[in-house]
Amino acid sequence: MKKIVVTGGAGFIGSAFVRYSLRTYPDLHVVTFDKLTYAGNLENLRDVDESRHTYIQGDIADYDAIHGAMEGCDAIVNFAADTHVDRSILGATDFISTNVTGVYNILEAAKALNTERVLLVSTDEIYGSIAEGSFVETDPQEPKNPYSASKAGGELIALAHHNTFGTPVMITRGSNTYGPYQYPEKIMPLFITNLADDEKVPLYSGGENNVRDWLYVDDHASGIDTALRHGSPGEVYNVAGDNERENIVLTNRILELCGKDDSSIQLVKDRPGHDFRYSIDASKLHALGWKPQMDWDKGIEETVAWYQDNEAWWRPIKNGEFKEYYKRQYANREV
Ligand code: NAD
Ligand code: TYD
Repeated sequence: MKKIVVTGGAGFIGSAFVRYSLRTYPDLHVVTFDKLTYAGNLENLRDVDESRHTYIQGDIADYDAIHGAMEGCDAIVNFAADTHVDRSILGATDFISTNVTGVYNILEAAKALNTERVLLVSTDEIYGSIAEGSFVETDPQEPKNPYSASKAGGELIALAHHNTFGTPVMITRGSNTYGPYQYPEKIMPLFITNLADDEKVPLYSGGENNVRDWLYVDDHASGIDTALRHGSPGEVYNVAGDNERENIVLTNRILELCGKDDSSIQLVKDRPGHDFRYSIDASKLHALGWKPQMDWDKGIEETVAWYQDNEAWWRPIKNGEFKEYYKRQYANREV
């Protein structure tokens, strides 16, 4: 592989994947194609080697634009998505445009250009919630919120494209991801940056009922790369952190690392349709040689320290579009 397109490469995991790919493969050229929605940020790519990186601003829902970017590339890795469950509950039009129509455009462009490999980054949320045990790739999709339903829709079109046209599609389904450069609407950066400002953290429904599996962002990037290079077309691969935590346990650890106590917790009304627990089994990807490397204690300590040391990165975000969103999302929800 000499040249790849990374759509959504200015976002959280996409930018980590761009950095990972450039440092792992010295002969690789990466084209980042990104719409720069509220979640996209070129600051996330400030350290990349510009001689091996090209940036194009564009929308995957625009067929001509994505077709143009993919010309001459061996592979495409799609991170571009609307990604926040709470925002999808406020309105899901953009989710359907990007996560469904955008994915279809990528598949059609790959067919027209004979692109060698197409990797779609998806989520463990497409399975829905599981009370006990862990989902494997053959379990049915049962998405329960507009975000996960739109991701499931994109997946179904991709698998049908593979079946019908032989498009060389691989899908990864990752767990909740954490680390540097995550937009502060998601629980970890939201809580860390609120605490840095001596504000409370809005915990849904007491927190003890909900469980997420936490995957460090560089481990997610290497898992996606393993599936891209060693996976088989038409196959799906779970990418798990094997690191499940109840939200209240996660919150208490963040409070401790930030020098606060539980008086900084503001319990708020629950998210409608809130999935209880996500859990996936990544044995299939382990068989291709991948394993997560980051230890949980080190990962969360480094992540808290990164946000504390990089206020210059998140302050403009929190003072910008985020401010109105936060007011709208959390107003009058105290319980
Ligand atoms: P993010 O919200 O941080 O970034 C998304 C990026 O996509 C942004 O740079 C944005 O500008 C870009 N984008 C959005 N719509 C676009 C469009 N129409 N055309 C081009 N670019 C567009 O997202 P993330 O957390 O980095 O997630 C990346 C991918 O990983 C998504 O597909 C998501 O579903 C998946 N995923 C995320 C997690 C997680 O915990 N964050 C877990 C599993 C899977
Ligand atoms: P989030 O980071 O939004 O990821 P996802 O919904 O995709 O799993 O949320 C992670 C968990 O944290 C989820 O159970 C909801 C909870 N949560 C809160 O308690 N308060 C918040 O302000 C947010 C954003 C999330």
